[in-house]
Amino acid sequence: MNVSRPALRKLEKAARRAAAHAYSPYSNFRVGAAVLSPSGKIFTGCNVENASFGLCNCAERTAIFNAISAGERKVAAVAVYTPTPTPTAPCGACRQVVHEFGPDVLILCVCDGPEQIETSLDALLPGAFGPEDLRRGKQGTSPKARKT
Ligand code: THU
Repeated sequence: MNVSRPALRKLEKAARRAAAHAYSPYSNFRVGAAVLSPSGKIFTGCNVENASFGLCNCAERTAIFNAISAGERKVAAVAVYTPTPTPTAPCGACRQVVHEFGPDVLILCVCDGPEQIETSLDALLPGAFGPEDLRRGKQGTSPKARKT
């Protein structure tokens, strides 16, 4: 999706601000994320950890769930900030969750150093499984589904 430079800069700032709310007493790794909707709205999120470690939620997913809870159904871009010397790309689970709402989403990862990653979700998760795979299965057009 086409995202203007000023919009991306605003999104980056929102992700940086969101990291201040991170609840990460176990990893001490703070993450902030911001999601841009196609209409230009920004939704933020931080990582939220839990004493039951498996329940930790990444900042990207918090931000996506925040956007979807507000009624959004598509994502144009996601910015991720970590207070690290080099940028951090979204984990595999977050890539999959982002894919559900925008396979051609732009991903920007920023940090405290000059380096940044600007890429697409398609590059981070090529050949991803998505809603269209389920639809194909239901229509019975998948050769695999026919055989079973
Ligand atoms: N984390 C994120 O928020 N996003 C990622 O993409 C990678 C990891 C969080 C989860 C956990 O709270 C901490 O970073 C350490 O894994």
